[in-house]
Amino acid sequence: MKFEKEINRRKTFAIISHPDAGKTTLTEKFLLFGGAIQTAGAVKSNKIKKHATSDFMEIERQRGISVATSVMTFEYKNFLINLLDTPGHKDFAEDTYRTLTAVDSVILVVDSVNGVEDQTRRLMEVCRMRDTPVIVFINKLDRDGKNRFDLLEEIEKELQITLHPMTWPINSGKDFKGVYNIHNKSLRLFSANTKAEDDDTIAIEDLSNELLDKKIGERDANQLREDAELIEGVYGQLNENEYLKGKVAPVFFGSAVNNFGVKEMLETFTTIAPIPLCRNTNSREVCPGEDKFSGFIFKIHANLDPKHRDRIAFMRVCSGRFERNKYYHHVRIDKDVRFSNPYSFLARSKDTIDDAYPGDVIGLFDTGNFKIGDTLTEGENFYFTGIPTFSPEIFKELVNKDPMKTKQLEKGIQQLTDEGVAQLFTQFGGNKKIIGCVGELQFEVIQYRLLQEYGAACEFRPLPFYKACWLTSKDEKKLEEFLRFKQQNSGEDKDGNPIYLAQSEWFLNTEITNNPDITFHFTSEVHK
Ligand code: G4P
Repeated sequence: MKFEKEINRRKTFAIISHPDAGKTTLTEKFLLFGGAIQTAGAVKSNKIKKHATSDFMEIERQRGISVATSVMTFEYKNFLINLLDTPGHKDFAEDTYRTLTAVDSVILVVDSVNGVEDQTRRLMEVCRMRDTPVIVFINKLDRDGKNRFDLLEEIEKELQITLHPMTWPINSGKDFKGVYNIHNKSLRLFSANTKAEDDDTIAIEDLSNELLDKKIGERDANQLREDAELIEGVYGQLNENEYLKGKVAPVFFGSAVNNFGVKEMLETFTTIAPIPLCRNTNSREVCPGEDKFSGFIFKIHANLDPKHRDRIAFMRVCSGRFERNKYYHHVRIDKDVRFSNPYSFLARSKDTIDDAYPGDVIGLFDTGNFKIGDTLTEGENFYFTGIPTFSPEIFKELVNKDPMKTKQLEKGIQQLTDEGVAQLFTQFGGNKKIIGCVGELQFEVIQYRLLQEYGAACEFRPLPFYKACWLTSKDEKKLEEFLRFKQQNSGEDKDGNPIYLAQSEWFLNTEITNNPDITFHFTSEVHK
């Protein structure tokens, strides 16, 4: 295999969670371990603050800051770890879903007090679609949380994944005493604000050892013995293959803010998390060790500063070696392009790089050539699959307020939807242009950007739709008939693919039942 050494040391992953579960805090602890930052609190600027929900410019400003920290690369024990940041704000959930297409595994943070939350559920759905390997970190053990066994059961049931506890907590809240590492058979007693270099684990090979009673008291020691026996009986040994297939998720307990239980997880992560793997394209499987370079764009970030209109396209390298100033084939537009200033995100600063390897994510300056899902190769015509578009949740009609600027509006909306800010549909009955988003905030972003960047004024009229489904059928006639009959509720996406716009879950289920020859899809590949 070519570039074997480089590929084998790379681990590309994302930390995901419902807002406030502790993603930012955990990210920071990882960076401390990796030596990428020296002080706690350094990552906070990365986070979109909750109070800024009504001020999208502020959010965009913070998002601007977060471009530099969108990918955090650090070294840990000879591994090169690429940690991809995902926006915390729920209105930018689409960004997160797309980022998940560029990683090889994820760490999911669950708050032990709140358990599984909305965003946790949805993020896991995305992981399941691609069988992404997941490690779960149950956070905030220093607070009185749910019963651990109940919590595991809740996570397994709600997220449809089998769990495998790697550590086990001794109490929680005020009585939290630490975690027992089932895997290594060692005990770590809780202390607040553990330093990166602290290593005060106590080896306890045999839980019947009296040392355990001395360390945590007889009552808790007995409880731990009982729990451990139960866990051993139920879970047995971790099957790493099942983890790599996304079927079993190792679980760690801890407290991110106290840097407790984090190191155990990082150690296991570096041992078992997958290195860059082969990926599917529309024509064949492409493997990292191939001679020739290939990669795809999963995120585009526009600069809102009118003086700097450049956009940054984020590309994940999938095979071969990417080199600066070399011409690559842009499959969709069938053109050769080259990049003189590609940059990496090492140590939180933007550095121009000369080359990059599979697993790496690099930033490419873009003047409007890219759209999410685009593939670059050394000449071969294929595109990476598995970069889906999800149904939006809010739908509004786009109304042009200045007929003199129709062209600008068209161009603007095309480009903004290429960037993935929103989705554009055209309704068959009445030819309305419909914008679909996951959050209200995006409508403000679109209105503002259309005016500022394209001089086009628009407004939005709410529409009573609840979901857009992509339609396919083996029977073309049936599909055509359906679309004609349901003109007010059907249309096409930007690429001309037919969609059904459902007013409610009830309508959707009724149509699904009444039209067995038509398949209703909740996601679409960006390219068809
Ligand atoms: P997010 O990125 O997932 O949205 O969560 P973030 O890390 O910002 O954490 C959300 C809040 O939870 C923060 O408090 C953070 O300090 C706290 N937190 C994280 N880990 C733990 C933990 O192990 N135990 C406890 N008790 N709290 C934890 P905040 O008050 O919102 O922010 P800050 O003022 O502390 O920065």
